[in-house]
Amino acid sequence: MKPVTVQICVGTHCTMMGAMNLYEALQSMQEEGLEITIDLVRCFGDCKANEAPVVVVNDKKIVSATSEKVMEYIMEVGKV
Ligand code: FES
Repeated sequence: MKPVTVQICVGTHCTMMGAMNLYEALQSMQEEGLEITIDLVRCFGDCKANEAPVVVVNDKKIVSATSEKVMEYIMEVGKV
């Protein structure tokens, strides 16, 4: 699998909308052997558009992120 970096916004709005649940889900996947780097970052500025939680996987921004959406994209970009 190619290196994958996931940035999770932990600004107030994204946190209220489930960012920490995403973080925990990704941590579990790391523990199961998935090679991803997780960075917790400040507001991307997209929360005004009701797009929280916001996650960036490598260069792609995922809005209204769910663990399913994020995992789907991680698998796509991580393909060797
Ligand atoms: S709080 Fe997450 S984009 Fe603003």
